[in-house]
Amino acid sequence: MIVGVVGAGTMGAGIAQLALQAGHEVLLNDLDEAAIARGRDRIASGLDRLVAKGRMDADEAGAALVERLRDAHGLDTLAAEADVVIEAALEDLDLKRTIFRALDSAAPASTLLATNTSALSVTEIASSTQRPERVVGLHFFNPAPVMALIEVVQGELTSAATMQAGLEFSGGLGKTAVTCRDAPGFIVNRVNRPFTLEALRMVDAGQATVESIDSAVEAAGYPMGPFRLMDLVGIDVNLAVARALHEAFDQAPRFRPSPRQEELVAAGRLGRKTGSGFYRYGADGPASGEANHPAGGRGPSGEPLAEADIVERIELAIINEAYRAIGEGVCSPEDADIALKLGAAHPHGPFERAGMLGLRTVVEALARLAASGEMDARERFTVAPALWGMATF
Ligand SMILES: NC(=O)c1ccc[n+]([C@@H]2O[C@H](COP(=O)([O-])OP(=O)(O)OC[C@H]3O[C@@H](n4cnc5c(N)ncnc54)[C@H](O)[C@@H]3O)[C@@H](O)[C@H]2O)c1
Repeated sequence: MIVGVVGAGTMGAGIAQLALQAGHEVLLNDLDEAAIARGRDRIASGLDRLVAKGRMDADEAGAALVERLRDAHGLDTLAAEADVVIEAALEDLDLKRTIFRALDSAAPASTLLATNTSALSVTEIASSTQRPERVVGLHFFNPAPVMALIEVVQGELTSAATMQAGLEFSGGLGKTAVTCRDAPGFIVNRVNRPFTLEALRMVDAGQATVESIDSAVEAAGYPMGPFRLMDLVGIDVNLAVARALHEAFDQAPRFRPSPRQEELVAAGRLGRKTGSGFYRYGADGPASGEANHPAGGRGPSGEPLAEADIVERIELAIINEAYRAIGEGVCSPEDADIALKLGAAHPHGPFERAGMLGLRTVVEALARLAASGEMDARERFTVAPALWGMATF
């Protein structure tokens, strides 16, 4: 199969590498010639790592780079040749619509057109083409060669055959694919939003510190606490997603970004990449572990929460958001569980966790939090209708 990749940055290079690993031919396009060269370098080092680990034969890696990876200097030539095109250019709706218009006019009717958007509407991107039924979201996670999940996103007009093609293509890359409707944040970026936002709310309310939350969450089996995670991903990147979801959900208070994130970003403290975020990082890279006050400090007012309460609050908010998502028909509970485990490295999916806790306990605990009088508690913790419908008393 010939796979066209538009955009040779972080995600495009990772996706191109995966396609080469799966034996496909790859056409790599970018506006910027230098970006294609950088993308090639990134792909080469990704394949080198696989060779070093004994997961790929050195000759095979060399052949993939020389014989199966080609630069594509125009969208029209790429679209004319490729069986599948994956767009991984910048997160900008107008730009993506322009790219899809160009792809649509040059590609044969059978070509599958996919976007790797994280937060834009697949339906709106697809509507720039004459073949919205042949357009799908393939949401890879970063780093694409490593992360096991792909969210296959169904735009309003995406056909069942196109969804099937997206699922098969994803499976052929060795990934686990889940299906979701075209709704803001798809599954992981939406359902996992409370992982960072509830943690920030607790710090903002003076109920816990950055360190106490990270250590409670890590002790509960999550590989990284919310603040260490934000520092790793980039506080600016996390904030951009939080802002996009807040807008997409009509500024619902539960999605409101924290002022603490806004302040850190304004101060240029973006996390590991700038050497300082919620924590400070030593010159050699690894975290020094020293929290950065006042960002890391607890506010003066709140009653400190116990470790178990910290984790419970985050998990309850995630479970509730997961019920909201299935109530809106975004995905199945099974796919939500898979998505959170593979896309966010949670030790259990939200529905599995709800089952462990018992739905009655979940509903009662959420109702208690909703009545706590804390800022926005009513909206944050109001029991999702789909959860009410399932819990028996
Ligand atoms: N980085 C992530 O964690 C992540 C995860 C999932 C999805 N995404 C999405 O993937 C897409 C790419 O993100 P990224 O992190 O790889 O960005 P990036 O900035 O690393 O790469 C984007 C590349 O697109 C190129 N580009 C810009 N306009 C173009 C055009 N008209 N035609 C061809 N190439 C063009 C740029 O030159 C750049 O090389 C975005 O939509 C993003 O939301 C990102």
